[in-house]
Amino acid sequence: MTRLEERMLAGEYGYAAQKAMEILVALGKIYGAERMIEIRSAQISGVSYSNLGEEGLEFLLKLAEDGCVRVPTTLNPCGMDLEEWREMGIPEDFAEKQLRVIEAYRRLGVEPTLTCTPYLAGNMPEFGDHVAWSESSAVIYINSVIGARTNREGGPSALAAAITGRTPLYGLHLDDARRPTIIVRAPRIGGELDASALGYHVGRILVGGVPLFTGLGAISRDQLKALGAGLASSGGIALFHVEGVTPEAQRYSREHVEDVIEVTENDLRNEIEMLGEEFDEPDLIFVGCPHASIEELTEIYLLLSGRSVSRRFWIFASRAVRAQAERIGLLAKLEELGVRVYCDTCPVVAPLKRLGFKNVLTNSMKAAYYLRSLHEVRVQLKPLRRLVEDAVK
Ligand code: F3S
Repeated sequence: MTRLEERMLAGEYGYAAQKAMEILVALGKIYGAERMIEIRSAQISGVSYSNLGEEGLEFLLKLAEDGCVRVPTTLNPCGMDLEEWREMGIPEDFAEKQLRVIEAYRRLGVEPTLTCTPYLAGNMPEFGDHVAWSESSAVIYINSVIGARTNREGGPSALAAAITGRTPLYGLHLDDARRPTIIVRAPRIGGELDASALGYHVGRILVGGVPLFTGLGAISRDQLKALGAGLASSGGIALFHVEGVTPEAQRYSREHVEDVIEVTENDLRNEIEMLGEEFDEPDLIFVGCPHASIEELTEIYLLLSGRSVSRRFWIFASRAVRAQAERIGLLAKLEELGVRVYCDTCPVVAPLKRLGFKNVLTNSMKAAYYLRSLHEVRVQLKPLRRLVEDAVK
């Protein structure tokens, strides 16, 4: 450890820096890190009061008494839209606690971006940057699509890294862990639900490792986002490569490849059917897990082609993307057709059960997986085009 790191650990920089360094040293020991490295940014998850609870809030408030982040740091979604929580139907008692959590992070110098796509909201690392991010879908996106380097941090370790500006050097910060371990021959991707299902399917088979996809054909940024979120949710995977697309796909030799697997279109259909459930009437249709991009908002508007929605149709996006939509007049057009664009939250971290939703339609395997397991909500999966048709029925 450097002299500065030792002084932080000794408490010379205050309580927050000391606690943060203790967490990082413990992690470094567990994973056999030889030293700390400086990071360029952090992304913190576990922001919803539903996850943190009273104890988590108290710990944050204590850290905020003398702590401050040393690098640009952004926040994952919390349990409600900070401006429109009443309209969403969020109970007052929950809102009050949630606002206290956000205020504690603000005091620590964290920017309350409240999105799982911080890379669409100003926190965009560069190729090769070492960072400390939590939120599995964001971690896998920047590792794979950008070529930045982060382990799959938890909320506390990401916050500790932000406060000290450091993280232990191990795992995906090193070349060794970034080499492909399995080749996945996959069918061409038809849309975002296919990408999501492919990720979910491969994650379920692999559980760990670094897949290298071949045969995908042209794949958009949003499809890469969906592919990564699927891989991360079922398999805890934090890095993938796509031949001819992602920046490190050609960087490493294939000598660590242990196997080659083939995925068919049928595998994807089965995966979508297995996770979905039957019901007649959805009481919510939503898009935006991970948070939607401006391209997705535009596509929804084009698919609506002037028709108003007759069912509750919500899009979840970062406030940065919403502002962009507002500037170009897209937000007003969507709202005119009855679509609501919510920010700062998503159906998985919001207290959905308390909002009374039982049957939900979406195009995200990750959302379906968590909504079923955490909220006991029935979910059906359909591609975006069909979601829009169901919304205008
Ligand atoms: Fe983001 Fe919530 Fe999905 S945090 S990835 S929209 S579960």
